[in-house]
Formats: sequence, structure tokens, C-alpha cells
Amino acid sequence: MISNAVKEELRKIAGKDNFFDEIEERICYSYDGTTFKSKPDIVLKPANAQEVSHVLKVANREKIPVVPRGAGTGLSGGSVPIEGGIVLAMNRMKKILSIDEENLVAFVEPGVINEEFQKEVERRGLFYPPDPASQKMCTLGGNIAECAGGPHCLKYGVTRDYVLGLEAVLADGSIINTGGQVMKNVSGYDLTRLLIGSEGTLGVVTKIVLKLLPLPEDRRTILAAFSTMERAAETVSAIIASRLIPATLEFMDGVTVKVVEEFLKIGLPTTADALLLIEVDGKKEAVEIDYEKIMKICKDKGAVELKGARTSGERENLWKARRAVSAALGRICPLKLNEDVVVPRSKLPLLITKVKEICTEFGIKSANYGHAGDGNIHVNILIESRADDEMKKVEPALEKLYKEVVNLGGTISGEHGIGFLKSKYLALGAGVESVNVMRKIKDALDPNNILNPGKIFAVNPSSLSGEEKINSPRPSLTKRGDNSLSKGARKRVRGKE
Ligand code: LAC
Ligand code: ZN
Repeated sequence: MISNAVKEELRKIAGKDNFFDEIEERICYSYDGTTFKSKPDIVLKPANAQEVSHVLKVANREKIPVVPRGAGTGLSGGSVPIEGGIVLAMNRMKKILSIDEENLVAFVEPGVINEEFQKEVERRGLFYPPDPASQKMCTLGGNIAECAGGPHCLKYGVTRDYVLGLEAVLADGSIINTGGQVMKNVSGYDLTRLLIGSEGTLGVVTKIVLKLLPLPEDRRTILAAFSTMERAAETVSAIIASRLIPATLEFMDGVTVKVVEEFLKIGLPTTADALLLIEVDGKKEAVEIDYEKIMKICKDKGAVELKGARTSGERENLWKARRAVSAALGRICPLKLNEDVVVPRSKLPLLITKVKEICTEFGIKSANYGHAGDGNIHVNILIESRADDEMKKVEPALEKLYKEVVNLGGTISGEHGIGFLKSKYLALGAGVESVNVMRKIKDALDPNNILNPGKIFAVNPSSLSGEEKINSPRPSLTKRGDNSLSKGARKRVRGKE
């Protein structure tokens, strides 16, 4: 509970128009893309770093949880305020401050929408590649918190590869500037990268310096259909093994294709068991050569349908289909769990086989799609409810999946982060010793654990041995004994509060 006196203090900092404690507002900020819910006590919409700093000073003094939030499109529960407290909605800080065309660098506030930024730089012949599927809504601040990826990250790298510097407010209210605007920088520890992907647990980002690229001269997009998933996966491995790195190399399985086609009706080949969406870009002549090479590999591997987008409209349609996958699956199964496991890309065919085996063993349905070229697959578990019975089937299946990907040399999250949904498996994904270092960093920077508590780290993990951490069940939202969420948090996410 936040006292009226403290509420008053916070209201004064943000201004009465940017302070909300009405139930309607609290509900709006209670969930993210996972649809797990937990209401904050207060929503604040700060205008600048100074206001964020003042809020954090009060929160730190009063030990109130603070959850920074962009557009709430995350898929690991990262911005769900599971311990209540303050949601810091960063959407008012949405200015593109400047674009330095001489140095190919941009300065932005965290609330800028990813797609709006991409369009703005493209108008100047420049390119910002990270393109999460939610790019129409998601914010650059949120992209940094989760180190977002996207289809174009295959050739161009993920969010962290484009961040040169940050301004961030730490838990005690101090404002730091990390990195800078230069292309090289080894002045001490890389605090920029420490903050990227830290899911709001180490600081609140208030300004971002981004690296830009020249916009590729040409692009060609290919749609290839296969009669089996295995053939599509082998084609992906063959493309990479032939030393070709396209700009994107995405796949959708048969279930996914049908669901997307039903939603958009744009003529996807629904009889195929798997689709690849491949794009090459660069200089015109090079694009032509790579395009022909990839077409040949697809043919040799037995593509049953193969076509190139002839117009920019056709290309846009294919990308619209790809970006709509999560929403389309959400229509038929609103409670789906969208996983983002990643394996070395040569292991993709094996992973696909394992996913099928696991689904059969545990009697669950899945739809699979994702960034095949990165070995990063979105295994979507299609569950009807999150009640105990259903979750009892799903949790061991996911645990098995996580163990299989680690055995294959992969990890449990390629782009959605740990949030609270995967917190119990952090040690499996990162290793016990690394987790211990992470906890020391967290304790040093946020000793009162006010910044996004309950995320990344399971609550009270010190009482568990490394082995138990790995073997313990998924942080359950069901009634079973679960020590990864505090009692209050459990009540909240299960809608009892
Ligand atoms: C995607 C998101 C879910 O690639 O990561 O569609
Ligand atoms: Zn993705």
C-alpha cells in the first residue's frame, strides 16, 4: 500500500495530469503481450529524466516497486507489475531528438515507436534494422529493455548491436550516461550493454544513442513452400552452409500458415507444411546473384512452390503476413504461450524433430514459426486455459524443451527475455555461476530491489541449489507450491487481487 502522503509527493513530481490511481488506468497497465495480469497501484507518465530521478528517489526511500514500461508488447511478462507499485509509462518521452546524417547516429527518447523511427531514418536514405514483429507499436526503450530482435537481425544483428550510448536513471535516482556517440569505446566496463536486455531491473532508460546504416540499394523477397518441415529446415541449413547470409530467413509451419491465411486472406499456400520467407538485400548486382543462388538451393531441396515478390506491394503483403503471425495465433488461441528458444542454426532440423516429439509425448498442440536463419524458433503452445490441469501438461513439456535446447548448445530465450515466466530457468539458460554474478550486479545497483522486482531472477533462489534451480518447475501461475513468485505476486497474476 502506498500512503496518501507518498501518492501526493509522486503526483507533484509528475503533475496531476500524469498521475493515475483510478482502477481503469491501473487495469490498462496491468498486462503485456502474455496477457498475464497484475495491477499496479499507480501509473506515472514522466516527461524527462529529472522526473524519473525524483520518482525513483521517493520509491527507493519508501521501497516501492517501479516497473518501467514501453508499449507492453513483451512476451515474457517483463512489464507486468507482479508486485504492484508504480508503473512508469515512458510513452510521453517520444521525441526523435536529432539525426546526425554526417555521423549516421540518432538521439532518441525511449518512447519513440520502432516503426516510426525506421520510417524517419529511411526518408533520409538510412536504415535501423532491428524490427520486432510488434514494431508498429513497440518502443525503442522497450526494445532496449528486452534486447529485441526481429527478422532482419539475421544479417544485421539485434538491438544491442545498434546502441552506442544511453542515459539511464538508477534505483537511487542518480542519472548516468553510458557509452557515447562514437563507434568505438573501451573506456571502462560496457555499461551500455549491461543495461540492454536488463528488463528494467537495473535502471530506467531516458535517452538512447543509436547507430544507423545506409539503406540497402535493393531488396528481393522469396516465398518458398515445402511439403515437410524437415525439408524447410534442411534448406535453411543449406543456405547458411553455402556461405549466404540473407537479410532474413524466416519460417512458418503448416498450422501457422493456415491461421495467418485465414486472418489475412492474401493467398499463402495453405497446403504446404512449411514456408520460408527469405529476403536478400544490398547492391543491385549482388542481390541478383544471391537471389538466384537461393532460388536454386530451394529448388534442389524440393520446394513445392517458389516465387519472388515482384512488386513492393507483394513484398509488403508477405511481411504483413509474417508480422501478423502472433496476432493471428492469438485470435484462435488467446492464451498461447509464445516461446523463443534458440539453438545453433545447424541444429534447427533436430530442434524441429524434438518439438514434435515433445508435443506428442505431452499431448499438447503447438504452432511453430520464427527466425530460422538464427536458429530462433517461436514454439507457440496452444493452450485452452491456464488452469491447473492444462498447465500441469504444459510446464513439464516446456521444461523438457528448455533442456533439449541447452543440450543442443542453445539457450532458453533469443529475444523475448526472461521476465517472470522463465525466471526459474535462468540458471539453465545462463549457468549457475553467471546467475550468481548477475545477482551481485543487481544487488549492487538496486539494493532495495525496487526496479522490476520478481523479473529475471526467481524470488529467493539462494535457498535453492544450482541443480534445484534447473529442475524446479516453471514459475507457476497455478496453485501448486511455487516459490518463484512472492505470495502477493501470485495472487495478483492469478487475478485474485
Ligand atoms: C515474432 C515475435 C513474437 O517474431 O518475436 O513474431
Ligand atoms: Zn521473433
